[in-house]
Amino acid sequence: MYRRVIKPVLFSLTIEQAHHAVLLLLRIIGLIPGGRWLLRKCYAVEHPALEREVFGIRFANPIGLAAGFDHNGEAFRELAALGFGFVEVGTVTPRPQAGNPRPRVFRLPKDNAIINRIGLANRGLEATIRHLRRPHDGVIVGCNIGKNTSTPAENAPADYLKLFRSLYQYADYFTVNISCDNACREGTTHTREHILQILNPLFDFRRGQNQFRPIMLKISPDMSDEVIDQITDVLLETPLDGIVATNGTHSRGGLHTSRTTLEKIGSGRLSGAPLTHRAVEIVRRVHTRSGGTYPIIGVGGLMSAGDVRAMLDAGADLVQLYTGYVYNGPGMVKAVCRELIAAAEKPAAMRAAGESVQNGENPEASAPEAVGTAGKASDGESEEERRPGSGQK
Ligand SMILES: Cc1cc2nc3c(=O)[nH]c(=O)nc-3n(C[C@H](O)[C@H](O)[C@H](O)COP(=O)(O)O)c2cc1C
Repeated sequence: MYRRVIKPVLFSLTIEQAHHAVLLLLRIIGLIPGGRWLLRKCYAVEHPALEREVFGIRFANPIGLAAGFDHNGEAFRELAALGFGFVEVGTVTPRPQAGNPRPRVFRLPKDNAIINRIGLANRGLEATIRHLRRPHDGVIVGCNIGKNTSTPAENAPADYLKLFRSLYQYADYFTVNISCDNACREGTTHTREHILQILNPLFDFRRGQNQFRPIMLKISPDMSDEVIDQITDVLLETPLDGIVATNGTHSRGGLHTSRTTLEKIGSGRLSGAPLTHRAVEIVRRVHTRSGGTYPIIGVGGLMSAGDVRAMLDAGADLVQLYTGYVYNGPGMVKAVCRELIAAAEKPAAMRAAGESVQNGENPEASAPEAVGTAGKASDGESEEERRPGSGQK
């Protein structure tokens, strides 16, 4: 249905028009009594094998919606009803900002990718609070926070602190987005000094609160391995709780889209399939260097259940989708969840089959059907067994 009917309609619109239409439709469904229930019935999967406890929060499944889809938190409950285990809203900035001139988001169908230079367009803190004030109904909400483009670098910490304080009671966790939106490159923002200038006031504020809110740092895929290691060391040495890896890339390597088209599009962050390898690689690096005990949200180029498995196997505790969801449609979360369940059940079924063989029984006769549909081979342990204490600092 999505591929044959809805996708051609949405793809005939500009990507921003399609995005607004989807958000509007979701909000309308949310206003209809039973609307969210119906969405959950169609798209959500519940199973104990999907559940995770990460930074003290219980997630019904590890698949989240990445930042940038619901900038203002206007449809977080409807998006969660589409099966997501959590929704990250934002990036929110203190004051509303219009972002860059349009067009500023482009599909690259030949590469299953998107280029965007939206420039953190959003309606600002007050509008986001109005949306997040509504009952959360059990939905886990992350708030992705950033500074206004017009805020000079030396005042950036004040922007982040204002957002953190004001949204503290409305979010389950925070993601600090240090990527710079327009002209600058991450070289200036991904330094230890800059990161600590932003994070330290947040740690100080949190110490005075009764409720604990985890703080994650979102990083760029364009950093050298050395810088990634330095950032991981910040994780090890400060109360920072985890890493969200990664944002889109400025790189244009290895694309099938023609050079002329790319030149016409111009600058922006590339997301989707071309990013998978680097995002997984970075998650593996952070996981290894941090000893596997710090929460990591893996995001970047997760286009299939296989990609999600690879990200989880690399050490991510949770994952987020954006471009893969745009290309695959709303059935993607359900499909990925089913594959994760099948993969989790496979070792148990194999063990049972092994015992049957030892007892002289026919393993095929007793193996559950799910084994045949399992995705990537598992290493014989469940997620929980593989990473004991994962997500606990
Ligand atoms: C149109 C668009 C807008 C985005 N806006 C934001 C944003 O406001 N804040 C943010 O942290 N990331 C933003 N992202 C980045 C995504 O959250 C994600 O990190 C990135 O796209 C890589 O994941 P993907 O390959 O699954 O899309 C945006 C991505 C896209 C495609």
